[in-house]
Amino acid sequence: MATDILIAPSMLASDFARMGDEARRMQTVGADWLHLDVMDGHFVPNITFGAPIIKALRPHCKLLFDVHLMISEPLQHLGDFLAAGADQITLHAETLTHSQLMDAIVQIRSAGKRAALALKPATPVRPIFRYLHELDMVLIMTVEPGFGGQAFMSDMLDKIAQLHKEIRRQALDITIQVDGGITRETITQAHAAGATCFVAGSAVFNAPEAAQAIAELRQLTTTPR
Ligand code: DX5
Ligand code: ZN
Repeated sequence: MATDILIAPSMLASDFARMGDEARRMQTVGADWLHLDVMDGHFVPNITFGAPIIKALRPHCKLLFDVHLMISEPLQHLGDFLAAGADQITLHAETLTHSQLMDAIVQIRSAGKRAALALKPATPVRPIFRYLHELDMVLIMTVEPGFGGQAFMSDMLDKIAQLHKEIRRQALDITIQVDGGITRETITQAHAAGATCFVAGSAVFNAPEAAQAIAELRQLTTTPR
């Protein structure tokens, strides 16, 4: 069971005109990972950025690049994201058949990178239990993917707890990440349910002091489960 607390600011909430500076800043304010939301206007209604932007950011930041693919055809673009410098690729379960998921995991892991699977709020967690031993992380979406600044869906807490229980049962070393609506209030609930990696867009980038916001979020996870 992965227990280290990880705070992953989402570049979706950064100043897109200064993305290199923003990525560098996240390194200096104590972030653990840099979360990069790729959206194609098809799997989700919004469009953000793709592999060329991630490649351009790579020299600016040493943090782990946590690439969240919200795109309908992830297999078509996987090679580009790996070449661009992604350290971890999160695929949405809703976009892949069983054999496509297996192919994607092999491709990611053959490149020496971490493979993760994300679930939209309406996607049940139980059917992915059979894949857990192939994964480094599972992302439980706590908002509908597509936009930053939405409210945390507390009915996802049970899903996090079910996943946490199963990971323990299988004695695996897998990170549970949550993404969407993470604030000083909701991080405690998500942590209590079993999450250890927290994506935070607005909570970090809209704060007056990003360093303080990250430190406070981290502090709130020190309460025992
Ligand atoms: C939403 C993205 C999130 C988003 C979170 O689809 O996957 O990563 O940036 O933003 P906040 O933390 O503002 O809810
Ligand atoms: Zn995300």
